[in-house]
Amino acid sequence: MALHTPRLIQQSPHLPFGDKQDASFYGKDILSVKQFSRGDLNFIFGIAQEMSEMVRRVGSFDLLKGKILANVFYEPSTRTSSSFTSAMERLGGSVIPINEVRYSSVSKGESLPDTIRTLEAYSDVIVLRHPEIGSAELAAKYARKPIINAGDGIGEHPTQALLDLFTIQQEMDRIDGLTITMVGDLKYGRTLHSLARLLTLYNVRLNYVSPDVLRMPGHILDEVNETSIPQAEYNSLDPVIGESDVLYVTRIQKERFSDENEYESVKNSFVISPETMQQAKEDMIVMHPLPRVGEISMDVDDDPRAAYFRQMEYGLYVRMALLAMVLGKA
Ligand code: NCD
Repeated sequence: MALHTPRLIQQSPHLPFGDKQDASFYGKDILSVKQFSRGDLNFIFGIAQEMSEMVRRVGSFDLLKGKILANVFYEPSTRTSSSFTSAMERLGGSVIPINEVRYSSVSKGESLPDTIRTLEAYSDVIVLRHPEIGSAELAAKYARKPIINAGDGIGEHPTQALLDLFTIQQEMDRIDGLTITMVGDLKYGRTLHSLARLLTLYNVRLNYVSPDVLRMPGHILDEVNETSIPQAEYNSLDPVIGESDVLYVTRIQKERFSDENEYESVKNSFVISPETMQQAKEDMIVMHPLPRVGEISMDVDDDPRAAYFRQMEYGLYVRMALLAMVLGKA
């Protein structure tokens, strides 16, 4: 099946950042993007590139044969959960899926540390999504096996940010020098919190476009301010659409609102349409972590600049790389 569009990973063995750097991730947790240096990212992206080539050539292979991943999701997920499953299985490993904690002992009142201690007895690595900030860190405190944070409430989503950055690198051929505009729910969107932090390792400009009540949290703005990265906030796309190289669109996170009326008042604040795209650069890309609920019109999907479906596929390769790395096989 023709999955690849011309922009998706080139077939040459060219590594985007030149020589890979040595980085030991064996046995490590992946909890926050703060733990990564630029050298680490070069290393991860080099492995991800190799993974994409292996998938293209042979589909699946036995790098992690005999290894078991516990995929523990206390919040809904389609892409993150299934891409980790696919990644593990393409590497020859297997998966314990805990997607419905309702049917696990959590519904009997079991604590997160006890659930984690249990699952690590049966697995080699744990991927955890949980509604509370800091949950992955808490799990890591109790676990001897690596914990990978797949979203801790409105905190971080580090593997998404890694795949987002890999997408930018693959699609634009560079990261330095780009203007990245983030749109939508900047307050509750954890993918943006991780991505903004990660981008401070590069020479970029950041624009934030949101309704007033959904502005980027102060602590993220402060962290970016500590670097030399220029950042600016807007409540309209008009002033920035023409200068953007990457438009990163997010869903208004309905489930995080305590006041339904507030959600209703902001839910359709920004909709990317073919008219929006007419104002954009010819080589701009549109990204979205997905799911979308109307903030990008389906009429945009056939625009070659719509990178959000390709972004999902890049995620598979990045997650294959991460699993191989923390299990000492990369
Ligand atoms: C995101 C998430 O869960 O934070 N989804 C994802 O992992 N691809 C974004 C969202 O739910 O809006």
